[in-house]
Parts: sequence; structure tokens; C-alpha cells
Amino acid sequence: MPQIFPKALNPIAKMLILAAPLLAGGAGVTGAAFYRSSYATGLGETPAQPVAFSHAHHVGQLGIHCVYCHTSVESSGFANIPPTKTCMNCHQQIWQGADLLEPVRNSYKEDKPIEWARVHNLPHYAYFNHSIHVAKGVGCATCHGRLDQMNLTRQNSTLLMEWCIACHRAPEKHLRPKSEVFNMQYDPSTSAKWTAEDFGYNGTLAGKPHPALSDPAVYDAEKKEFKDRPTSQKDLGLFLKDHYNVRDAVTLTNCSMCHR
Ligand code: HEC
Ligand code: HEC
Ligand code: HEC
Ligand code: HEC
Ligand code: HEC
Repeated sequence: MPQIFPKALNPIAKMLILAAPLLAGGAGVTGAAFYRSSYATGLGETPAQPVAFSHAHHVGQLGIHCVYCHTSVESSGFANIPPTKTCMNCHQQIWQGADLLEPVRNSYKEDKPIEWARVHNLPHYAYFNHSIHVAKGVGCATCHGRLDQMNLTRQNSTLLMEWCIACHRAPEKHLRPKSEVFNMQYDPSTSAKWTAEDFGYNGTLAGKPHPALSDPAVYDAEKKEFKDRPTSQKDLGLFLKDHYNVRDAVTLTNCSMCHR
């Protein structure tokens, strides 16, 4: 990331500099309206792509897991776009003569990556990290929408600061068991699977087995399932917030959390 400010400036000072044009009045009203328009945020946009890749076909119909292609999403801040080799694992055999796939074959032959257009793009002064969201039970679909139904990939949220903050103030409205993070059809009242792995980190609390796991009234050790799991988002969210040790709203809305 380019260093645009001297290191000595603290994040607040940086923000005041960034906010200056907006605070300067005059153009303020039009500025604010433009700032929220979908033209400015990219909401709902589907940029032209070199290959008509469809998540609806590959995820919705074929059932390929997100991590098969986006291998780094759980382990790093950045979710990678798959290299051509990943496509060729299948397309050396399937649809190997199709015109639609010609750019993929050329990319493989010439060993030149496909130049996918970015769908999401935060400004460089905002810090985002995938792995922490995945680790704390925020589902892909909560931010990206139903990829399993999208032909061309589009941006499903504004990505505006107010959107990030709304969740950081009350994450319990959105948390789900970690095992459901990739589930595009997740519904808290019917997605019944809820195992020890969903309960904090591998069922442990501070490195020791979680006490609730040894309580037969709460946990069925044979089935490895909780008995009375909460089924409303309200109860489940509060429960998970506690057990995944999600920090409080003051900490999560601190400017330096996202502006480093
Ligand atoms: C077969 C490989 C494959 C699978 C499986 C897959 N993706 Fe993708 N994904 C891609 C490719 C290729 C792109 C780049 C082209 C595009 O944007 O459509 C992409 C782009 C994206 C983008 C937009 C990236 C950007 O430019 O901002 C998101 C978000 C995304 N995928 C999420 C998911 C989620 C969530 C799942 C699982 C439900 C998933 N993907 C499964 C291959 C895959
Ligand atoms: C696990 C196997 C598998 C992988 C990996 C895979 N595909 Fe496919 N792809 C298929 C199958 C099967 C079809 C036919 C789908 C159909 O007809 O519904 C297909 C169809 C397509 C099509 C034709 C249009 C469509 O969606 O039906 C394109 C384009 C395509 N794939 C691109 C890609 C790209 C680009 C990648 C790598 C990012 C990729 N595929 C990775 C199995 C795969
Ligand atoms: C809390 C919201 C949130 C969740 C949850 C989330 N994403 Fe993202 N995703 C984003 C944002 C914001 C960006 C744009 C990041 C940027 O521009 O730096 C993004 C970008 C991407 C990209 C483009 C590459 C990148 O990292 O910039 C892919 C691919 C992607 N997401 C896949 C996924 C998958 C797969 C999941 C589920 C495991 C997921 N995302 C969960 C918000 C989220
Ligand atoms: C749907 C809910 C949700 C949305 C939307 C969301 N976040 Fe988060 N975010 C969380 C949760 C939950 C955590 C984990 C908090 C914890 O562990 O205490 C988190 C943590 C973070 C962290 C802390 C990383 C660390 O290493 O400590 C950063 C940075 C962050 N989010 C940035 C963003 C940005 C930037 C956006 C908007 C582009 C965003 N988030 C949108 C729920 C969300
Ligand atoms: C949860 C993450 C998050 C937190 C916390 C956060 N921001 Fe932001 N901020 C963003 C994102 C993402 C953007 C870029 C998207 C946009 O322009 O809304 C942004 C953009 C900005 C901008 C430039 C655009 C604008 O709105 O004028 C300023 C200034 C700013 N933030 C100031 C702050 C200040 C001051 C705080 C602390 C009170 C803060 N931010 C806390 C995520 C965050």
C-alpha cells in the first residue's frame, strides 16, 4: 500500500485531512447525495469480465466450495482470485472446445493470468480483513449476497463506512455458527447443524475443553450436537458474540480499527 501520509500523523489527523473536502460546505449537499448514489459506490454493478464466469453454475448448480477457488479467504486478509490452473483442473476435460472458454485456454497456454476486473474495491485508506470475519462467524452471503444465484458477479453492499459501522455496532444481528459461514442458504431457524466446532474454537475456551461440553443437559456428546440450540437470530447472535469473544461496539467502531 502506498504511504500517502507521513508516518508521524495519527489516524485521526489523517481522517480530518481526508474529510476536509466534504466538510468544506458549499458542494456538501450534492457531495453527500453523490457519495451515496450507486454510481459512486458501485452497488449492484457488474463490471465486464474477460470470461463469462458464472458463480450460479459453478456454486449453485455444481456445488463447488468457495475455498476450492478462493483458497486464502480463511487464512489471510485478502481473498485470492483463482489462477487459471484451477479452472483447467476441470476444463481440460469439460467443455474443452467451447468458445466461451477460449480466453481460459489461451491464458493457460501462454502462462498469462486472466485479467479479471475487480468487482469490490475499497479505497486504500480503509483496512479490511477477510480471515477475522470468517473466524467470527460472518457469512460470505451477509456481505456478498447470494453468489450461488449470480451469473455475472455484482457488488451486493455499498461498502460505505456507514455499512461497516452498522454491523460493528451490533454484530449479533449477523453472526452465525462458523460451520455455516459458506452456506449460501443459511437460515438460523432451520440450519440445524451446530457442533462443538461451532462452539468457540474447536469447543475450547482459553485452551481447555468448554465446560458446556461436559454438561449432558446441554450437549449430546454422542451426536456431537447441542440440544437446545437457539433458533432465533436474536438469541443465537448474542450467544455466539459471547462465545467467539467478539469485542464491544466501542472498540469495533474505533477509527484506528479500519484506518491504520
Ligand atoms: C470455480 C471457482 C470459483 C468458486 C467455486 C467460487 N468463486 Fe468466487 N470468483 C471466481 C472467479 C474466477 C472470480 C472473478 C470473476 C468474477 O468476479 O466473477 C470470482 C469472484 C468473486 C467475488 C468478487 C471479487 C471481486 O472482484 O471483488 C466474490 C465476492 C466471490 N467470488 C465470492 C465467492 C463465494 C462467496 C463463493 C462460494 C459461495 C465463490 N466465490 C466460489 C471463482 C470462483
Ligand atoms: C470442478 C470443476 C470446474 C472448475 C474448477 C471450473 N469449472 Fe467451469 N464449468 C464446469 C462445468 C461442469 C461446466 C458446465 C456447466 C453447465 O453446463 O451448467 C462449466 C462451465 C463453464 C463455462 C461455460 C458457461 C457456463 O457457466 O455454463 C465457463 C465460461 C466456465 N465454466 C469457466 C470457468 C472458469 C473461468 C473457471 C476457473 C475460475 C472454471 N470454469 C472452473 C466445471 C468446472
Ligand atoms: C464483512 C463483510 C465480508 C465478508 C463476510 C466477506 N467478504 Fe469478501 N469482500 C468484502 C469486502 C469489503 C471486499 C473488498 C476488499 C477490498 O477492496 O480491499 C471483499 C472482497 C472479496 C474478494 C475479492 C478479493 C479481495 O479480497 O479483495 C473475494 C474473492 C471475496 N471477497 C470472497 C469472499 C468469500 C469467499 C467470503 C466468505 C468466506 C467473503 N468474501 C466474506 C467483504 C466481505
Ligand atoms: C455483517 C457484519 C460486519 C460487517 C458488514 C463488517 N464487519 Fe468488520 N468485523 C465484524 C466482526 C464480527 C468482527 C470481529 C470482531 C472481533 O473479533 O472482536 C470484525 C472485525 C473487523 C476488523 C478487525 C480486524 C482485526 O484484525 O482486529 C476490521 C479491521 C474490520 N472488521 C473492518 C471492516 C470493514 C472495513 C468493513 C466494511 C468494508 C467491515 N469490517 C464490515 C463484522 C462485520
Ligand atoms: C469498521 C470500519 C471503519 C471504522 C471503525 C471507521 N471507518 Fe472511516 N471508512 C471506512 C471505510 C470502509 C471507508 C471507505 C468507504 C467510504 O468512503 O464510506 C471509510 C472512509 C472514511 C473517510 C473518507 C470518506 C468520508 O466518509 O468522508 C473518512 C473521513 C473516515 N472514514 C473517517 C473515519 C473516522 C473519523 C472514524 C472514527 C470515528 C472512522 N472513519 C471509523 C471504514 C471505517
